[in-house]
Amino acid sequence: SKKAILDIDTGIDDALALAYALGSPELELIGVTTTYGNVLLETGAVNDLALLDLFGAPEVPVYLGEPHAQTKDGFEVLEISAFIHGQNGIGEVELPASESKALPGAVDFLIDSVNTHGDDLVIIATGPMTNLSAAIAKDPSFASKAHVVIMGGALTVPGNVSPWAEANINQDPDAANDLFRSGADVTMIGLDVTLQTLLTKKHTAQWRELGTPAAIALADMTDYYIKAYETTAPHLGGCGLHDPLAVGVAVDPSLVTLLPINLKVDIEGETRGRTIGDEVRLNDPVRTSRAAVAVDVDRFLSEFMTRIGRVAAQ
Ligand code: BDR
Ligand code: CA
Repeated sequence: SKKAILDIDTGIDDALALAYALGSPELELIGVTTTYGNVLLETGAVNDLALLDLFGAPEVPVYLGEPHAQTKDGFEVLEISAFIHGQNGIGEVELPASESKALPGAVDFLIDSVNTHGDDLVIIATGPMTNLSAAIAKDPSFASKAHVVIMGGALTVPGNVSPWAEANINQDPDAANDLFRSGADVTMIGLDVTLQTLLTKKHTAQWRELGTPAAIALADMTDYYIKAYETTAPHLGGCGLHDPLAVGVAVDPSLVTLLPINLKVDIEGETRGRTIGDEVRLNDPVRTSRAAVAVDVDRFLSEFMTRIGRVAAQ
């Protein structure tokens, strides 16, 4: 199995991504690194520790990352994030607090892991890319060794926080640009595909029937997320499985169609936060990144239900 690190801002769909990873025998989750976005860094860490206990994986270490973009002095959760994920990030579901503590040093953990495991490691980033940018800055060899799948960006469709910017990129456009332009091996799972993979209450009802604490918590938090989508994007008919799709692709890239393209993020002007082709490297035959432009929705949803079902059933 491949070793994996999740870099997450937990967040309901981040929690689903965590469950997807734990329900995938192809992956060995060696650690969780925390970022901010849907919630503050500390809240995300509390959620990760409680969810790892709930999902039967209390041995997985959780590391605290950078609390906000380097270009900012602090970070406040956006009203829309609190509305979609709840004040506590997991749809106001109350989980027993873990007795484990988060460890300092997410950036060093990322660097050490890439140096130790090289091609056997995938980093799946489903929040702002601040920790990855810090790792690139701290270890000049990091980028050439790292394999990263990100949930973020929007290449062929509009953004979700502005007509051009997606939330994870928008929190720290400079960090995402650093990652793309570092030459690291990056697979971008953006809104292009994640807004096609939709979950409904019919799906969550299947978990509820299992009756375990994990199944009920997963159903409750996901129903909260679906309800938020019913208010903010009723035309979709379900909630977007953004972060789990990134894990899905880390397990099986054939779930999506990947367009090889050297990417960058607009970091200046009105379109700050837009993911777009890097004009400097557009004709370079070496493509270090690729963007998902189509997804096999039925196959992904079936994989998703199987893998979450494994975690929910225990
Ligand atoms: C991304 O933003 C967050 O709200 C979600 O967890 C996901 O990572 C979608 O734009
Ligand atoms: Ca997220």
